[in-house]
Amino acid sequence: MKSLKKLFEILGKWKYEYIAASLLLIVSVGFRLLEPKILQMTVDKIIAFFVTGKGNTVTADDSITNFFYWVLPELKIENSGMILIYLGVIFLMIALLRGVTMLSSSTISAASTEKAMKKLRDRLFSHLQHLPMKYFGKTPTGELIQRCTGDVETVRKFATMQVTESIRLATIFIGAFIMMYLVNTTYAFIAIMLFPIMITASFFFFRKEGEIWTKHEAEQDKLTAMVQENLSGIRVVKAFAKENYEIEKFTRQNEEKRKWGMKLLRLHSIYWPGSDVLVYTQLAISLFAGSYFVLDGRITIGEFTAFFTYASYVTWPMRRLAQLVSEMGMTRVAIERIYSILEHPREDYSGFNNDGRDLKGSIEFDNVYFKYEDEEENILNGVTMKIKPGEKVALLGPTGAGKSTIISLLMKFYEPDKGMIRIDGRDINEYSRPFLRSKIGVVLQRAFLFSTSIKENIAYSDPDTHIEEIVESAKVAKIHDIISDNFPNSYDTIIGEKGVTLSGGQKQRVTLARTLLKNPDILVLDDSTSAVDTETEFEIQKALRGVTASKTTIVIAHRITSVQDCDRIIVLDKGRVIEQGTHEELIENNGFYKKIFDIQVSIEDEINEDIDKASDVKRETSNVKREKEYKTIV
Ligand SMILES: Nc1ncnc2c1ncn2[C@@H]1O[C@H](COP(=O)(O)OP(=O)(O)O)[C@@H](O)[C@H]1O
Ligand SMILES: [Mg+2]
Repeated sequence: MKSLKKLFEILGKWKYEYIAASLLLIVSVGFRLLEPKILQMTVDKIIAFFVTGKGNTVTADDSITNFFYWVLPELKIENSGMILIYLGVIFLMIALLRGVTMLSSSTISAASTEKAMKKLRDRLFSHLQHLPMKYFGKTPTGELIQRCTGDVETVRKFATMQVTESIRLATIFIGAFIMMYLVNTTYAFIAIMLFPIMITASFFFFRKEGEIWTKHEAEQDKLTAMVQENLSGIRVVKAFAKENYEIEKFTRQNEEKRKWGMKLLRLHSIYWPGSDVLVYTQLAISLFAGSYFVLDGRITIGEFTAFFTYASYVTWPMRRLAQLVSEMGMTRVAIERIYSILEHPREDYSGFNNDGRDLKGSIEFDNVYFKYEDEEENILNGVTMKIKPGEKVALLGPTGAGKSTIISLLMKFYEPDKGMIRIDGRDINEYSRPFLRSKIGVVLQRAFLFSTSIKENIAYSDPDTHIEEIVESAKVAKIHDIISDNFPNSYDTIIGEKGVTLSGGQKQRVTLARTLLKNPDILVLDDSTSAVDTETEFEIQKALRGVTASKTTIVIAHRITSVQDCDRIIVLDKGRVIEQGTHEELIENNGFYKKIFDIQVSIEDEINEDIDKASDVKRETSNVKREKEYKTIV
């Protein structure tokens, strides 16, 4: 019932169209119900007339039949052929009207359904855009895709075919029953005597199907998620020659889905033949009862002919009910799955926007604790730090120390469990999310680019940006030369699946340009030059200095060389600040930072030694070569 309400909500905006379609459908069914009456009259009047040689031998006295008798000219032996033609024409007209009303009805309902589905897809996508990061952390992308496509399609099919169909079935059932009732009450009830059994069976079928279908769809979700992940990681798969492993994994999941598919099939294979048996038993009962009623003189042969047609009209919805119920079961599941997205609360976008002013850029973490949902351990264990406006601060620490998490909290992707974060002295909970995110520019650790042109990627924050500004940002990010010299269409080059593939370092630089173009008040570089070579990184830093001179800047990096010239370095470990100071102060301190420094220096020394050795080998070989040459000359 709840899902029915939701379905009405989805289709609600077009209710007048659906009402019109239903009315047309009811009219169409009305016409259809008249057809057996023509049959009845043909048998009772004309055929009986010919057989017995006199008129009105058999009479039926229900109002509809009487109306037709009244319309038709008086039956005489001379005009009986004429009346037969009249009846034929009436029959044709009824069929024509039935067709036209039916067609208009289905056109209106199909068009409304398409509109409703478009709106549903738009609404789903827009809702997804506004869901919190937390949600995406928990839900696999493939599953969401499945819900936005497969499930919407299930609802679409149901709404197109079955919503009006159910009205049609109900009308036919009630209408045909009334027609039978008008002829003979007892017979009418005999013709639907198995109906309660059918309803009960359908109800159980509906419940069971819903159960199985939910499981089936969950397995389908996993399958979609698997394909999605596999295709995005196909490079890794190939690099590790793990194709067969992936195929096995897929086959296993596919088998899971098939199992539930088979269960569904088994349920159907019991239900359908069962319902067929019921339907045909019902028809047989009607047939026998009808014959008995005719022989008993309770109804005419013509009435019996019409009656039996009505009896099949009544049993037909009974059979279709099963299909309706089956699709309703699947649709119910689809609607529930769609609504589990739609009913998830959106991110709150309200709050203070600093009265439209820029941020000065002071940041303060005050004893902040945080853990990810469903995780055991705290990721941040009382982080306390202060960053002054315009200061350039580095966050340094081993992988997993919580650096990126700190940035996520700053962007209000997540909320601290305890403690407080302040920007410009104000609790960040008070700021609106869009405001904060528009003022803080983050170059995320994992560079992500859209499959459009480089230009559009860089100008993501404002598509109307003038090309000169785009070039300016690209120059600072040290990617301009590559774009203009190496890419086929310069800034219009399409990147991604249908265009050029960028190296990790190039991607990072494009994302850096994208963030710089936004001209944020606070700039955060989360490991954003990790894939760039040291020389280029140095140049980027030099160019950045001009841009970030007065901006609060947070640099997250692993290499000491990347953070050395920051105003202050904050060292983190296991979600805590363990040291802070300038490079010199921290070296002096002889703590964690000094340890990392020593390791990095010794690694560098080793590398340099290796390089030296390599050039020695080169020198040696060239000496040998020279000796040989010398000998041959001599
Ligand atoms: N979305 C998430 N859900 C659960 N755990 C996470 C999530 N993101 C990060 N973590 C965990 O939090 C810890 C800190 O991660 P992160 O802040 O990315 O560290 P860092 O940036 O310092 O390398 C890691 O142990 C990581 O596994
Ligand atoms: Mg990180």
